[in-house]
Amino acid sequence: MSTNAELHKRRIAAVPRGVGNSLAVYAERAQNAELWDVEGRRYVDFASGIAVLNTGHVHPHVKAAMAAQLDKLTHGCFQVTPYESYIALAEALNRLAPGPTPKKTIFLSTGAEAVENAIKIARYATKRSAVIAFTGGFHGRTLACIALTGKVQPYKSGFGPMLPEVFHVPFPMAYHGVTPEDSLAAIENLFKADVDPARVAAIIIEPVQGEGGFYVAPPEFLRALRALCDRHGILLIADEIQTGFARTGRMFALEHAGIEPDLMTVAKSIAGGVPLSAVVGKAAIMDAPVVGGLGGTFAGSPLACAAGLAVLEVIEKEKLGQRAEQLGARLVARLEQLQASFACIGEVRALGMMVAIELVKNRRADMPDAELTRAVVQAAGRRGLILLSCGLYSNVIRILAPLTIPEAQLEEGLQLLEQSLAEAAVGTAAATAVA
Ligand SMILES: Cc1ncc(COP(=O)(O)O)c(C=O)c1O
Repeated sequence: MSTNAELHKRRIAAVPRGVGNSLAVYAERAQNAELWDVEGRRYVDFASGIAVLNTGHVHPHVKAAMAAQLDKLTHGCFQVTPYESYIALAEALNRLAPGPTPKKTIFLSTGAEAVENAIKIARYATKRSAVIAFTGGFHGRTLACIALTGKVQPYKSGFGPMLPEVFHVPFPMAYHGVTPEDSLAAIENLFKADVDPARVAAIIIEPVQGEGGFYVAPPEFLRALRALCDRHGILLIADEIQTGFARTGRMFALEHAGIEPDLMTVAKSIAGGVPLSAVVGKAAIMDAPVVGGLGGTFAGSPLACAAGLAVLEVIEKEKLGQRAEQLGARLVARLEQLQASFACIGEVRALGMMVAIELVKNRRADMPDAELTRAVVQAAGRRGLILLSCGLYSNVIRILAPLTIPEAQLEEGLQLLEQSLAEAAVGTAAATAVA
């Protein structure tokens, strides 16, 4: 049997450091919201492999659908010998996507690939080239996506030059004093100072910033953005890669604002852990690119589509949207209690079961505590809780537990989080725990 330490030594020798690891915990098996490492140690999983497991690890229904598919067909390449599951999943997403306009869907393999394709489709359809994105936004690690991503370290620095004609404006963040009006004014300024709106193909936005720190775009801001896009013939791309598939209490987060995107990117929890992503969009826009201009060898594999169809059935049958709202409300109530006793918790934020705490020094929004945040993640790992950090200032703890997590395990995870906060707050220079 290998130990975590042995595997970590081999990993350092064999795998480049550019692929970071938040914990040196080597996974062996997992079930729903529990994971066991190679030494047999059990963890409560509050990370879901970065938002991939809304339906939990190895959901029996998803597993059965994949097993059945394994016996039939694992690869055909949709461009060579197409198959029904790709069409059936496209039909389902077209039905579920927000808004009344008829939709079409293309499948890809990763979130970044979906974003790349959304930009390609937007450019082709509008015959325009510029794209507006948001500070703190995250859209992936490929060369076009890092230009859209609004955080320099570690995503952009050293990898340039960037894709041209990408502009960033501030994302509304009430906690840091950025109002929706500030964000809209920044776009208007951009149109005066930097780019003619007639050259802008698309505005891409995460309805809740994921890697950026779980800042929630207010519904009225999203509606104003929709109106601004309509005024200028700009396409609105909703990046729902982290927010999708019932995580925020609705199938897609944009539903909270009641608006229809022109294009939407989805990935992560779409297929219970099998690589799959998609661009879902208004049919006329999706049909713009020439035959052969879109696609990919592995994109929308039979295995991934079978898993995707099963995931949609689980979300509906187990009412995971409602469950996200219930569990999220419970988490927020408990975290707000903790906030009263921990001066390091600056803010508790959530939309459904996309829940975060922002860690600062002495309750000051302008004093982010990245060191404490790192220490909390490590302390949690030692205690048997898998946690993830995020944030433009690397000072946010995000909770992305499976929506299928039993309530007792959610409670267990919360207690481990509280103990980890107490341990880290004493251990770091900040020492911000108060009685
Ligand atoms: C909102 C968003 N867009 C795009 C991506 C990129 O997805 P992938 O890592 O699958 O390429 C991510 C990944 O975290 C994301 O959260």
